[in-house]
Amino acid sequence: PVLILLGPPGAGKGTQARMLEETFGLIQLSTGDLLRAAVAAGTDAGKRAKAVMEAGELVSDDIVIAILRDRLNDSDCAKGVILDGFPRTTVQAEALDRLLEDSGQRINAAISLEVDDAAMVTRISGRYTCGACGEGYHDSFKQPKTSGTCDNCGGTDFKRRADDNAETVASRLEAYHAQTAPLIDYYQTQGALKSVPAMGAIDDIASAMSAIVKEAV
Ligand code: AP5
Ligand code: ZN
Repeated sequence: PVLILLGPPGAGKGTQARMLEETFGLIQLSTGDLLRAAVAAGTDAGKRAKAVMEAGELVSDDIVIAILRDRLNDSDCAKGVILDGFPRTTVQAEALDRLLEDSGQRINAAISLEVDDAAMVTRISGRYTCGACGEGYHDSFKQPKTSGTCDNCGGTDFKRRADDNAETVASRLEAYHAQTAPLIDYYQTQGALKSVPAMGAIDDIASAMSAIVKEAV
């Protein structure tokens, strides 16, 4: 199966993708994570992407599509994927359609997380993750059960993202509305769109998402 998560920065795509990954045995594929790994590794793509990401703008379609295609070809992705943060432009959506057609797959559902922009700044500025396993946390909304220790792996080293500051968040929201929001219509037309209200509690949203996924896969 192929699931797409749509939604602005901070909507909870990563949080929900990780929960679906566990529940359904699918692979979370985040282009943001793949790009951050490329930046950290200092690859050519990473060098070209770094400043763009720090400005909160979208990395060029050719770089992102190449990174996504490489990862999709890995054998573990055969059990099914949750695309988190891809596609983000119409060009990327069309490229994905072609990639899937070539491999005889289809999009089971494109799930749009519906949130208020104003709340996204708070969500993003309080966010941090476990340095060892990547589990996501939030200063007010999701703290580890034992303070300073990751629930998932016991790690004690946490980090915050370079682009999680108020100024960059504003650019990221702008990029979302200008370039990514049109994909809601794109998938509506394809008959794949599902909308989920995503201002509530993380677990309630996860239940709504699970119900959709159960039906779609
Ligand atoms: P990317 O890494 O994809 O970031 P993003 O889209 O900005 O999304 P976020 O990771 O910020 O938010 P999220 O929706 O995953 O929220 P989360 O679950 O963490 O992209 C980064 C950059 O890479 C882009 O700006 C661009 O430059 C580049 N890029 C990536 N993909 C690209 C592409 N396809 N094309 C071009 N460029 C690309 O939740 C946020 C916080 O809120 C967490 O702390 C969480 O604990 C908390 N939270 C989650 N749900 C709730 C809830 N219901 N209630 C309260 N708190 C909650
Ligand atoms: Zn951890």
